[in-house]
Amino acid sequence: MSDTGARERSGRANPAVRRLEDWNEDDLSALVADYGSPLYVLDLERVRENARRLGAAFPDAEILYAVKANALGDVLETLREEGIGLECASAGELERALAASDSGADVHYTAVNPPASDLDWGIDAWEEYPDLTVTVGAEDTIDRLADRGYDGRLCLRVNPGIGAGHHEKVQTGANAKFGVPTERALEVLEDAADRGFDVVGIHAHVGSGVSSDQLDDHREFVSRMGDLARDGNEALPTDLEFVDVGGGFGVPYRDDEEPLDLEAVADATRDALGDVDATLTVEPGRYVVADAGVLLTTVNTVKDARDTTAVGIDAGMTTLLRPAMYDASHPIRNLTADADAAAATSSSETPDSGRETIEQTITGPICESGDVFCTDRKLPASERGDVLAIGNAGAYGYEMANQYNSRPRPASVVVDGDEVRLARRRETVDDVTRLERDARRTSDDSSGDLAE
Ligand code: LLP
Repeated sequence: MSDTGARERSGRANPAVRRLEDWNEDDLSALVADYGSPLYVLDLERVRENARRLGAAFPDAEILYAVKANALGDVLETLREEGIGLECASAGELERALAASDSGADVHYTAVNPPASDLDWGIDAWEEYPDLTVTVGAEDTIDRLADRGYDGRLCLRVNPGIGAGHHEKVQTGANAKFGVPTERALEVLEDAADRGFDVVGIHAHVGSGVSSDQLDDHREFVSRMGDLARDGNEALPTDLEFVDVGGGFGVPYRDDEEPLDLEAVADATRDALGDVDATLTVEPGRYVVADAGVLLTTVNTVKDARDTTAVGIDAGMTTLLRPAMYDASHPIRNLTADADAAAATSSSETPDSGRETIEQTITGPICESGDVFCTDRKLPASERGDVLAIGNAGAYGYEMANQYNSRPRPASVVVDGDEVRLARRRETVDDVTRLERDARRTSDDSSGDLAE
C-alpha cells in the first residue's frame, strides 16, 4: 500500500530516504479508521530496502541490527530473512532475538552494566544456543560470567574516548559507563583468553545519529579499533573473528537534511580500519527502521494561545519521547488537509486544501510543559479530528514509549505490500493498573494466610 505510493512518488526503486510526504495520505488515514489513534505504523518492505542498501554498501561486513531501535518480532524476522544478525542490550531483547533466530550464531548480547537476572537469563540462553556471542564492557562482568560457568564466545566492548551523534545524551563512545578504556583493552583480552574464554571480537559504539559532518570522528574512532585489533591478533592465541564498530548511521529528520552518503561512510570505515585479519561488523538500528515507521495521531483541541496556535493531539511524550528528551525534530504532516488538497487538485490545477498555512505548536496530552512535538511550525491550519502523521517514528518510537500519567501505550500495525496486520494491540487502562491490582490481591491472599 503506502510502499507502492512511496515508490511512485520517489520514482526510484530504493531511495536513500523515504520522506514523510512519500507516504500515501489516504492509506494512512484508513489505518486510523481501522485501528484507532494514536497508532504506530511500520512498513516491512521499507525495512527490507534499508537492509539491502546497507548490505550493498558493506558487502564484506557482517551486519547486526540493534534490536533496541524497534524490537517488534515482525522486524526481527524480516531482518533475519535478509541475512542480518541481531544485537541485543538486555534479557528481554535477547528473548525476542532468539525467537527470531535459528541457532543464535547471529545473535550478540551486549551486556551493559548487566543486572544479575540478565546474566542468569543469558547463561540459560547460551546453554541452549552455544553459538551466542556475549559482549562485555567491564572486567568484573567477565568475572560474573565465569562465576556462572560461562566460557563461550566473548567480545570486549572498549571505550575509545571519542563520541559522536545527534545529541550529547547519545554520544556513547566517550561515556564512562560504556566499555573498557582502549588503553587497558589488550590486557583484558589476554586475561580473558588465559581464563579459557573464546575471545572472538572487539566492539565499540561511537554514538547514535552520526551525521556526514562527523565523519572525521568516525574515522578516528575506527582507526583506533583497527590498531587494537592488530595488537590483539599479535598477542592473542587465536585471531579475532570480528571488529564491531557499532551502529550510529544517522538519518535525516528535517526536510532540508540530505541522507547520509552510506557508500562514503563504508569507504571511510574500511580505510580507517586498515588491514586487519578479522571481519568488519556494523550494528545499525535507526538506519534500518526510522523511515519505515510513522506515528499517526488525531487532533483533540485547537486554540489561540498567547503567541501561537496550540494544537493538542492524542499522542504525547509518552508515545514518542524523542522531541521531549533530545529536542529532536520529527517531520509532521496533516493528512486530512493533504487529502482535501489532493481531492481539490483532481478538479482544479493547483492543490489547495482551502486551509491557510499558519504557525502551530503541537502538544500532547501529558501534564508537562515539555510535552511538545514542535513549536511554531508552519502547517495547514489544524482542525479538531484531523489525522496527523509524525515521520521517522520507526526507530526509538514505541521502544521508548511509557505509561506516565497512567496513559496506555498505543497499538502498532505492520504493513507488508498489500497486507496490513495488527502487530501489537493497544494497551488499556486495565493493562496499566493490572500489576498493582495483582500485587494487592497477592498480598491480601498472603495476609489472609498469616491471619490463619
Ligand atoms: N550498538 C550499540 C551498542 C548501541 O548502544 C546502539 C545504540 C546501537 C548499536 C544502534 O545505534 P543506531 O544505529 O540506532 O544509532 N534513543 C536514542 C538513541 C539511543 C541509541 C543507544 N544505542 C534516540 O532516540 O536517538
